[in-house]
Amino acid sequence: MCCSKDLIPADLSIHNVRNYLIGINKKVKLIDGTEKQYISFDNAASTPTFTFIRDSINEILEWYSGVHRGAGIKSLVATKAYDDSREIVAKFINANLEKNTVIYTKNTTEAINKVANRLNLEKDDVVICSLMDHHSNDLPWRKHSTLIHSNVNEDGTLDLNDLEEKIRRYQNKLKLVAITGASNVTGLVNPIHQIAELVHRYGSKILVDAAQLIPHRKIDIKADDDSQHIDFLVFSAHKMYAPFGTGVLIGPKSIFEEGDPDQVGGGTVDLVSETEVKWTHLPDKEEAGTPNLIGAISLACAIQMLEKIGMENVAQHEMELTEYAYNKMNELDGIEFLGPDNFSSYENKLGVLTFNVRGMYHSLVSAILCYEGGIGVRNGCFCAHPYVKKLLKVSDEEAELMKEQILSGDRSKLPGAIRASLGIYNTKEEIDDFVEVLKMIVRKEYKGTYIQDQKSGSFHPENFRINFSEYFSLM
Ligand SMILES: Cc1ncc(COP(=O)(O)O)c(C=O)c1O
Repeated sequence: MCCSKDLIPADLSIHNVRNYLIGINKKVKLIDGTEKQYISFDNAASTPTFTFIRDSINEILEWYSGVHRGAGIKSLVATKAYDDSREIVAKFINANLEKNTVIYTKNTTEAINKVANRLNLEKDDVVICSLMDHHSNDLPWRKHSTLIHSNVNEDGTLDLNDLEEKIRRYQNKLKLVAITGASNVTGLVNPIHQIAELVHRYGSKILVDAAQLIPHRKIDIKADDDSQHIDFLVFSAHKMYAPFGTGVLIGPKSIFEEGDPDQVGGGTVDLVSETEVKWTHLPDKEEAGTPNLIGAISLACAIQMLEKIGMENVAQHEMELTEYAYNKMNELDGIEFLGPDNFSSYENKLGVLTFNVRGMYHSLVSAILCYEGGIGVRNGCFCAHPYVKKLLKVSDEEAELMKEQILSGDRSKLPGAIRASLGIYNTKEEIDDFVEVLKMIVRKEYKGTYIQDQKSGSFHPENFRINFSEYFSLM
């Protein structure tokens, strides 16, 4: 008999999470032939997973079978675990399952697309998102409605006055305000409950894209009759230590009970004749095809793990790391942050450090961090082009030129930045190491000669290639 909770190490805490992280001790080869323990500062993209989650998956694999489809014991065990996972998810964000439904998707992007598909939007219905939103919380709304962007201030924070002005202006046509819980570019956290109150005052609904927020801060969507209630919440498990292909959409049952599901097929129906279809109950109606059992189990385990550590401890640890990193990076000459470069409190700022090194192309900096520092970051525009354009003060003429370059297959001069994003397991020692490598970069003391690939814009060191078969390769 196995209960996933029993597999959580009894001593697990914010101080020893590294002991339970898979892949934390991986060594990588640098261009000078030395080896170094890899530092993963790309947690805003995806996080690694924990031994406890792997152990739980190993257990459920022994029982793997079709969910909601079989009559055998294995299928019943798998189905119970899958259904229980939804309760764990709902409890984590305080959702009332009488009124709301937890629908599993592939990721946040698919969850937002589902809401956009299921709201019965007409092209002249208005949805408001902000200039700081990820493309995934922008493009689905453009496709189905008239999308209005609320503005951001010069420092990248959300302009709440502009948001209110736009809500008021479009209130007669407004169907939804879709806003990110925290920016994947600057890590700035939005006052989601204050925004919810505002949105409800004007009779509309709010969707919060919690892809970045949920791994780092406690989220409580609040009671359905609370004016600060979050109507729709979406997020991805792969950013919260469960990278097994699951996303989550929580929203009012009433919305999804009406009409046809956006994807149809097996699992969505109670009855099908040659001429008639009767949709089944929620959430199954909205999850066409065989569900991702492993994804759901791993997400539930990640939540159990985060609860055992305590979200307050996660937030506290990451705030300390962020402040430490900011102070250290600010001591370097030539580091230019996107967004504010100092904070009186780190409560409303996630561990996302996005910057440029004055006079150096962003992809060159990230290549040196990779090949000479063994440090994994991301560079570019982070799927948030309008926001990065604004933060980097790219003029409309420059943007036009950029467009021509992209269309001609040249990405060698595109604006962008470097993003180091921290997670639960990162340490001050890793930040020290990162700052040392940055110091070497700022002083132009790096060793390699780097060649740029014009098509992708990325840099590679001359005379050095990663030997993938040393790490992992399918070929
Ligand atoms: C704020 C935000 N929203 C949405 C997404 C999309 O998430 P996914 O790629 O898991 O669908 C991301 C991904 O980085 C994100 O940072």
